[in-house]
Amino acid sequence: MWQAHTIIHNGQAIPFAEARLHPLAVGVAYGVAVFEGLRAYMNPSDGSLSVFRLEEHLARLQQGMKVMRFDSPPSTEVLRAAVLEVLRLNAPDEDAYLRVQAQIEGIGTLASTGPVGWIAAALPRERSAKFATGLAATVSSWTRISDNAMPPRVKATANYHASRLANLQARTDGYDSALLLTARGKVSEAAAACLFLLRDGVLVTPGKGSDILESVTRETVLVLAAEAGLAVEQRDVDRTELYVAEEVFLCGTGQELVAVTSVDRLPVGDGTPGPVTRQLQAAYEAVVRGTTDAHPEWRTRV
Ligand SMILES: Cc1ncc(COP(=O)(O)O)c(C=O)c1O
Repeated sequence: MWQAHTIIHNGQAIPFAEARLHPLAVGVAYGVAVFEGLRAYMNPSDGSLSVFRLEEHLARLQQGMKVMRFDSPPSTEVLRAAVLEVLRLNAPDEDAYLRVQAQIEGIGTLASTGPVGWIAAALPRERSAKFATGLAATVSSWTRISDNAMPPRVKATANYHASRLANLQARTDGYDSALLLTARGKVSEAAAACLFLLRDGVLVTPGKGSDILESVTRETVLVLAAEAGLAVEQRDVDRTELYVAEEVFLCGTGQELVAVTSVDRLPVGDGTPGPVTRQLQAAYEAVVRGTTDAHPEWRTRV
């Protein structure tokens, strides 16, 4: 597998191993950082790499930096160029995972709003080991963070403290993945992915008021499902709906689309990835790699 050797930090391409921040920088000391995870996919016929939904990820990062009240945040133009440049510099010979992150780099206080620094990195990342077989999930006893405390629609690094606790608990208890409920007791999402379920043939996903990250992949799945003629609903979801659903799957840039084949040890459907999940997995695979002509606007060629 290829190795990342170069990272872009504040516009400078430097050796990956030499990127540095002070431990007391506000971005580290108080977790004041916001990021995006993206993927670049290789087209199997011509070997070209394209970043999937780059513009949507950069727009979400700008929203996050606004809510974080960052001073002089890097512009979308600068970050777009850096993402493409870091890919060219590292020249991966297969799919790549990308991280764009902005953080407060100076030593300061909890209320510091700058100076803001940023990185663009390209990393190898394999597909989930459970991509084909599905995940065993559990409903976590940890509660999903909420908009009036740690806004989930801001992809802040600090938000992942809660996800980490849920994931560690799930793994300790012998599961692959944790599903979190909101403070209102409704299904929100997984620790680092959004969630869909199929109920009576209708594809359902918790709405934007369910303390989810406003996921780019979730929106992609909503479009692909509608194009496939599936009925789709965004609404509140109860915990026990997970137990009686025909299918459940997670989606996100990192996870891509992966079936959940059991929840709290109850099998979902027949306990194997269902036909709608597999149909949407295939549609997603085609659109990210560009083996279909559909949605060229979602792929930025490197
Ligand atoms: C908490 C959380 N929810 C959902 C997602 C999915 O978001 P996206 O599809 O934009 O990657 C992620 C990131 O992958 C995440 O970290």
